[in-house]
Amino acid sequence: MSQTAADVVSFRIEGRIAWVAFNRPEKRNCMSPTLNRRMLEVIEDLEFHDEVGVLVLTGEGSAWSAGMDLKEYFRETEARGLEGVRKSQREAYAWWKRLRWYQKPTIAMVNGWCFGGGYGPLFACDLAFAAEEAQFGLSEINWGILPGGGASKVAAELLSFRRAMYHAMTGETVDGRTAAEWGLVNEAVPLSGLKARVTEVAELLLKKNPVALKATKDAIRRVREMTYENAEDYLIRAQEAANSFDNEGRKHGISQFIDDKSYKPGLGAYDLSRQGR
Ligand code: ACO
Repeated sequence: MSQTAADVVSFRIEGRIAWVAFNRPEKRNCMSPTLNRRMLEVIEDLEFHDEVGVLVLTGEGSAWSAGMDLKEYFRETEARGLEGVRKSQREAYAWWKRLRWYQKPTIAMVNGWCFGGGYGPLFACDLAFAAEEAQFGLSEINWGILPGGGASKVAAELLSFRRAMYHAMTGETVDGRTAAEWGLVNEAVPLSGLKARVTEVAELLLKKNPVALKATKDAIRRVREMTYENAEDYLIRAQEAANSFDNEGRKHGISQFIDDKSYKPGLGAYDLSRQGR
């Protein structure tokens, strides 16, 4: 897959990490229909790429994403009537959904502004790390709409009821540090150290059994909406399904601990290289 200087999504693979970035820095990486279509193409292409073990989603320039493009996503599609509106919604939601259930682990690296519609891909990523300097806001109320496109759901999922209400009703921003305290992201670190921290976490994930990782991340998303009984049953079946894809991995995991005594599962992962990836 090739890219040009004008590409609204940039991407490169380094050390089995796919660095994918919103690339409209002059528009603070707001999401236009063109960007949404391109993002789906890029992430689809990378999903089963042999050289990719982890995907990081970040933004070029000072923004992660300033949300939906008010001109191209809202005004111009509304001018094309309901058909235009529904089409552009489907294009946006399609890549967020793809990311929510992505084959590889995903990390949002929030380097700057993150508004409104940006909460969709933020939640879609399995993990999220922010610059302390980043600013997060549900700004919809500031220009007269409700936080749609899943944003209200994301706020209600990740924040306490009171915080979600305050955040959505006031449209005030919070910085990366507060976002971490609130649970919108895993951690906040100074912008200067953000890439190093994300690389460190990505490299940690690259050492884990990839079949188990996919089963694990899906399990955590799925069980949130299940009763305990249903979750218990789902997890039995999910484990058995994972075993049928990866008969050898966990046997190596057990053997390297019990027989070889070469590692301790409580403290780190078994050596994947001894079973092949
Ligand atoms: N939609 C359309 N254009 C945008 C958006 C957006 N969401 N965000 C920024 N831009 C454009 C600006 O219009 C401007 O374009 P221009 O250079 O042609 O005039 C350019 O990007 C740069 O924006 P500035 O406002 O000059 O950048 P600044 O760094 O001063 O401010 C900020 C950044 C705070 C992100 C500001 O651009 C902003 O408030 N953007 C809108 C954020 C927002 O409310 N997004 C929608 C959320 S709701 C939803 O997603 C459903």
